[in-house]
Amino acid sequence: MKELHEKIIQDGKVLSNDVLKVDAFLNHQIDPPLMQAIGEEFAARFKEDGITKILTIESSGIAPAMMTGLIIGTPVVFARKKKSLTMSDHLFTSSVHSFTKKETNEISVSKDFLQKGDKVLLMDDFLANGQAVLGLLDIIEQAEAELVGVGIVIEKGFQPGGAMIREKGIRVESLAIIQSLEDGKVTFANGESNE
Ligand code: G4P
Repeated sequence: MKELHEKIIQDGKVLSNDVLKVDAFLNHQIDPPLMQAIGEEFAARFKEDGITKILTIESSGIAPAMMTGLIIGTPVVFARKKKSLTMSDHLFTSSVHSFTKKETNEISVSKDFLQKGDKVLLMDDFLANGQAVLGLLDIIEQAEAELVGVGIVIEKGFQPGGAMIREKGIRVESLAIIQSLEDGKVTFANGESNE
């Protein structure tokens, strides 16, 4: 997606060979017109698929998921990493280990908001090792809902998550796929770079 590639080149910061900082538009400050364009792109890619619900995980998945839900016209549910005061034990739960942050979170979704018969678009901001997607897939299976596909804003193509999820026969749509962050340079899978 051209606008997203441009934004990554303009405002993204390569922190190491593995980590891209996008706090200026996605992970801390949020760029609403860019989120709208992202929502329009996902809505166009999944418009024929009869989606009834978008499932993401807090916190940075919420903004792109929200814009996509607005345009497709479906509710957006985000898995919580900490139980809220008002959450009961009427929950689907799964465990998500983050290799990047070296922590494990128990994630949960209320049984009220994901059900058998739902056709689910799973979304997240980053796809790296794929652990968040696996946790959300587990929750979709527990709910006996149907997974339509996975929508990712930025996929790090040099980490194993994308291949692992696609090997399961799951459709993954990523708006930007980064092939490398070596030597402080962003190179996309389509060959574009910030040089
Ligand atoms: P995985 O879910 O694909 O296995 O990813 P991983 O464990 O490697 O990453 C866990 C967290 O780190 C996720 O955020 C993910 O978005 C973020 N992350 C991974 N790689 C990058 C990167 O290169 N740049 C940035 N900015 N973030 C990265 P999270 O813990 O869910 O945080 P948040 O959604 O609350 O922001």
